[in-house]
Amino acid sequence: MSVKTRLLASPVGQTAKRVIADQQARRITSSDPTVRSLLTALRAAAPDEGRWAERIEVERRRMRASTEPVVVEITDPDRWRTTIARSRDAHPPVLLDESHVQRTLGEVTRVTSKPPHWGRLLFRLVHRLAPQRCLELGTSVGISGSYLAAGLHTVGSGGRLITLEGQASSAALATRLFAELGLDAQVDVRTGWFDDTLEGALATLGGVDLAFIDGHHEYQPTLNYFAAVEPVTAPGGLLVFDDVSYWDKGMARAWAEVQQHPAVTGSVTIGSVGFAVVRGTPSGHHRIAGLALR
Ligand SMILES: C[S@@+](CC[C@H](N)C(=O)[O-])C[C@H]1O[C@@H](n2cnc3c(N)ncnc32)[C@H](O)[C@@H]1O
Repeated sequence: MSVKTRLLASPVGQTAKRVIADQQARRITSSDPTVRSLLTALRAAAPDEGRWAERIEVERRRMRASTEPVVVEITDPDRWRTTIARSRDAHPPVLLDESHVQRTLGEVTRVTSKPPHWGRLLFRLVHRLAPQRCLELGTSVGISGSYLAAGLHTVGSGGRLITLEGQASSAALATRLFAELGLDAQVDVRTGWFDDTLEGALATLGGVDLAFIDGHHEYQPTLNYFAAVEPVTAPGGLLVFDDVSYWDKGMARAWAEVQQHPAVTGSVTIGSVGFAVVRGTPSGHHRIAGLALR
């Protein structure tokens, strides 16, 4: 690890990063209501956020500690061999055969779920934007979906979330989590590959106000999902893309193309998460180094 990387990872480095991010966010001015909602969400907690975050984080801790087996289907055993060899997890995945890997609920939760502050930001966005039609690509075991659904529950205007997951085992665990949190009325979990489920989900929703695209982080699939979702996104709707500066350089390229699309009137990139406003007020493209919630 270089001196610079070590410094950035230290508590002092983390505080400095938060201060810089906070200053960058304050410097952004925009007349677009969705961008303004995002900037406000960075600064101000939403009603009931603390209570919901506490409940969801209790569940996350329970799941992170769980050794319950989760068998997932795979198509790329060699990549998994590398992942397993590199895993530092106390319970690394085990290759069962060329098409299945056995993981634990703890490992899946630790590796795939957005951290608490990102969950809170999703909750705040739902509170500020009050979307009726939310879509998530990539449920995993349901952590980010819980924050979205809890936001919908708090807003209480009948908004719903359809969340899509390719792994049946993960989808089942997410369904269980939503039920435990009493959020089943807000969420519809659909199992299957995005290519098979996205069209149906969009037809059911009848449009999109807020989407969180957090699965299949590669160039062409990301552009395909954008191409499917953008035309049915409401004016001022928000599309959130995770991992836009991921190790896969294709994601950075895909995000740059999304930003340049004529329907995207503004964007904010916060760390490695891209927020694109569709058919809003032209508001330019902004970057904030990382997430600093107040
Ligand atoms: C990063 S995880 C999602 C994490 C979740 N949003 C959270 O923060 O709690 C990505 C998920 O997308 C799923 N996924 C990836 N590619 C997919 C595809 N083509 N179709 C369906 N699901 C897919 C994976 O199985 C994985 O569970």
